[in-house]
Amino acid sequence: MAWGGFRTIGGVGRVFVTRRVPGRAVDLLEEAGHEVTVWPGEFPPPPEPLREELREADAALTLITDTVGADLLAAAPRLRVVANMAVGFDNVDIDAATARGVLVTNTPGVLTEATADLTLALMLAAARRLPEGSAAVHEGRWGPWDPGWLLGRDLGGLTLGVVGPGRIGAAVARRARAFGMSTIYHGPREAAAFPGDRMPWEELLRAADVVSVHVPLSDETSGLFDEAAFSAMKRGAIFVNTSRGGVVDQEALRAALESGRLGAAALDVTVPEPLPADHPLLSAPNLIVLPHLGSATRETRARMAERSVDGLLAALRGERPPHLVNPAAWWPAGSGAGR
Ligand code: DGY
Repeated sequence: MAWGGFRTIGGVGRVFVTRRVPGRAVDLLEEAGHEVTVWPGEFPPPPEPLREELREADAALTLITDTVGADLLAAAPRLRVVANMAVGFDNVDIDAATARGVLVTNTPGVLTEATADLTLALMLAAARRLPEGSAAVHEGRWGPWDPGWLLGRDLGGLTLGVVGPGRIGAAVARRARAFGMSTIYHGPREAAAFPGDRMPWEELLRAADVVSVHVPLSDETSGLFDEAAFSAMKRGAIFVNTSRGGVVDQEALRAALESGRLGAAALDVTVPEPLPADHPLLSAPNLIVLPHLGSATRETRARMAERSVDGLLAALRGERPPHLVNPAAWWPAGSGAGR
C-alpha cells in the first residue's frame, strides 16, 4: 500500500506509521507479516492520537514532525523501535529512549546527494539573485537588457566554508569545487573525505565568501550562528543553511542582513516550521527561504522510507538494526541487557 489510510493484516508486530510515506515501505512491512496502521491525515498526528496509537505499538516509523519525548515513550510500554525517516533525530529524546531500551534508527546516506544538490541550488540562487529575477518577470518589471541590472556574483573563485564536514558537507564541497570554488571546513575532528583543509572556527568565518551549515542540532550547535558569528564573517558573505533552523539565531541573522554585513542568506530550515508568512525574519532583505525541501525528490524520499523499514524490521526480528542511533539501547535476546 503506497498511499493508504488505516490498513491492518494479521502479523507478529504492531507498527504505527505516523504519515503516508512514498515508495514500497508500507508494503514491505505488511509483507513481513506485521499489523500496520498508517496515520491517514495530511498533517502529523496530534500528541493525544499519537500517544493512543503508540500505546499498543511494537514499532513506530516516525518523521521529523513527530516529537517523541520521554512522556510519549513512557506511555508506549511495548515499543521496541522508533525508526525516524530522516538523517536528523533531534525530534526524538534519545536519552529517554535509551533508558527504556527503545532502539532509534535514522536514514543516513540515502539523502546525501539530494540535500547537497539543493544546497548548491540555494547557493546559486543567492549568488545570482534568481528569486529577484523571477519576481521581476512575473510582475512585469522586465525592461530592455541592462548591463547593470540584477548583478550577482560568480561562484568560481570564491571560498566555501563548510561547517559540519560529514557526508552532506563533503558532497556539497565536491559540487562547489566543480564550480571553481575553494573549499575549507570546520568540524570537531579531521574529515578525511572532505576535499579541503580544516580551519579553526573564527578563521573559517573570516575566510569564507560562502558559509554552508551541515551540523546536527544538539546542545552544542543550538544558536551556533549568533551575532558574534555573523559579525566575524566577511562583509557581503552568503550564508546557507540546509541543516536545522535551531542552529541559527534568526534575530541575529535578520540584523546581519539588514545591516549589509551579510550579502544574502538562503535557508531550507527555520524555527518554527512552517514559518508563518508574517514572521519578522521574512522582512529581511536578500533572503531566500524554502520549506525544508533538502531531501524532497521522489527517489530519495522512497529510499528514506525503505531504509527506515529496514531498521524497523531488523529490530522486530531481534537483530541489531543498521543505522542505530543509540547503541547503548541494544539489548540482544538472552543477554540480560536492557529491559
Ligand atoms: C533529515 O533527513 O534530517 C531532513 O531534515 C529531512 O530529510
